[in-house]
Amino acid sequence: MIDRMIRGEVPTHHHQALEIDGEGGARHKKRRIAYEHCFTRKGFDGAYSILYQRHSPAREFLTEPSPLSWRKAEAEPLVPLRRAHFLSGQVPPAKGWVESRTPLLVNNDIVISVARPMVSDDIFFVNADGDELLFFYSGSATLETPFGIQEVRELEYLWIPKGCPYRLTFTGMEPKGGGPHHILIMESRDGFSVPKQFRNPSGQLTMDAPYTHRDFGRPDRLVDTAHDPQGSTGPWRVTVKKDDTLTDRVHDKHPCDVIGWDGYVYPVTFPILEYKPKTGKWHLPPTIHITFAATNAVVCSFVPRKIDYGPDSIPCPYPHSSVDCDEFLFYVRGHFTSRKGVGPGSISLHPMGMPHAPQPGSYEASIGNTETDELAVMIDTFAPLRPTKWALECEDPRYMESWDPGRFDAAAGESKSEDETSYSK
Ligand SMILES: [Fe+2]
Repeated sequence: MIDRMIRGEVPTHHHQALEIDGEGGARHKKRRIAYEHCFTRKGFDGAYSILYQRHSPAREFLTEPSPLSWRKAEAEPLVPLRRAHFLSGQVPPAKGWVESRTPLLVNNDIVISVARPMVSDDIFFVNADGDELLFFYSGSATLETPFGIQEVRELEYLWIPKGCPYRLTFTGMEPKGGGPHHILIMESRDGFSVPKQFRNPSGQLTMDAPYTHRDFGRPDRLVDTAHDPQGSTGPWRVTVKKDDTLTDRVHDKHPCDVIGWDGYVYPVTFPILEYKPKTGKWHLPPTIHITFAATNAVVCSFVPRKIDYGPDSIPCPYPHSSVDCDEFLFYVRGHFTSRKGVGPGSISLHPMGMPHAPQPGSYEASIGNTETDELAVMIDTFAPLRPTKWALECEDPRYMESWDPGRFDAAAGESKSEDETSYSK
């Protein structure tokens, strides 16, 4: 939730009749009014939007189990406890958005997945288990929701509120040779928000927040349901995920038949490169990279920036024991001062219970650097993350060896082991 928006036509007051197509008068038998749809959070105490729809949102004529295959977020033990490296580029592509979603790391608060869809789905998807925060690592799309249409570009976050029907029409795919997209999905059961320290008492983003109201993309225009953007003439299938199980609701009217709406709840995009990083004389803690917050997790953006400028300052992250956090990092591009052997699309998991530290040599080698081009998304969770079977299938089994100075010398930028392939994927 960024600020209040209004699109299209709304009546003067809440819960007041809004005539459709100018039909009828106050006492006319054929009077048609819009269906008011209050889209609320935290019961009726949280943020909300109010939509005005031509037809009832509860007008489905069929409800049935979805025929789509679904990969459930089921955790496997992390035994032995270890720092882990997963190669998300090895997650197999699949047909559409829903079937390609592959959960990799989970706990009771958050599910982290990767999707590599090859085509767009024609259904609308609803995540009724939590908010979604997507990061478009590669690819772009047009997003359609009852709130309108908006474009999502590569290297942008997309926040979709829990319970919001949406359809992603991917751009730049086959047959033009673009290949599957590669999207990081973060699902928070309690929802994502702007951290409260970035708001002033009036709810405005503060002057020293790492972004401004102008940085966020919003629904541009309402959906023209007479001309379905995918050319469908109906019926329209809405696939709802609740309790990690899919149910289809089938409608004879377009799910986005909205005349107008206003409120605080609607999807937004945020380009990661618009994050305004802070730099210190001496190394600043990871909290300066916080971008979004959830109840038991934070999402951080590491973006290209000038780095620590004190004499003999050490820009490389210091060894630390963050005993209450698991640390998830999705590497996007650039050079990472603390890591060798990871590359674009790599995921590292550094669990609580083990100290974190740069690999041998990289700590010393960072002194004198004045800037970094690293780009990454980090998630710190306050409950342990556990891998799914799909994560274990794409794990680099030799990641723990990369802290062994006998095998790896990051200062020299080379592996001392006979086979360095697992560090260079
Ligand atoms: Fe760490």
